[in-house]
Amino acid sequence: MRTTLRVNGVDREIDVPRRTTLLTALRDDLGLTATRYGCGAAQCGACYVLVNGRAVASCLLPVEQASGVEITTVEGLARDGDLSPLQQAFVEEDAMQCGYCTSGMLISATALLHADPRPTDAAIRDALAPNLCRCGVYTRAIRAIKRAAEAEAGGSVQATERSRT
Ligand code: FES
Ligand code: FES
Repeated sequence: MRTTLRVNGVDREIDVPRRTTLLTALRDDLGLTATRYGCGAAQCGACYVLVNGRAVASCLLPVEQASGVEITTVEGLARDGDLSPLQQAFVEEDAMQCGYCTSGMLISATALLHADPRPTDAAIRDALAPNLCRCGVYTRAIRAIKRAAEAEAGGSVQATERSRT
């Protein structure tokens, strides 16, 4: 089955068997291997990608349902080779150990910050609840997400102040 997926702002044509999951297409056909396979049953969050801005388990989503939507993988979060503020905050807070869950956490956190730029700790915990981390980096991940939210808020304040001068 030939179909086109729009991934990280680019149309990508693939030819895969019907019912191929989006996760398989991303990893095996498009070479975007930062999105991980964990449980294969929408239970661990390792395979999360953004679909029209929402965090979605790509391990269960057939490609038939993934064409015509905007897909963003963790590879698409950086801009012009620079880490996003959220990615940078994860590095600065050392919010990863083995790293297996990190791309899924970044996707959940990106969706959260898009919907709620100044989330409470409770909102952050809720957003990360589907992302299982065997290494237990949750406290550091929460700190990183707050740090990114503060950095973005500071940037907006500075931009507003610059526009006034
Ligand atoms: S691999 Fe998709 S949620 Fe676990
Ligand atoms: S950092 Fe190892 S599973 Fe989360």
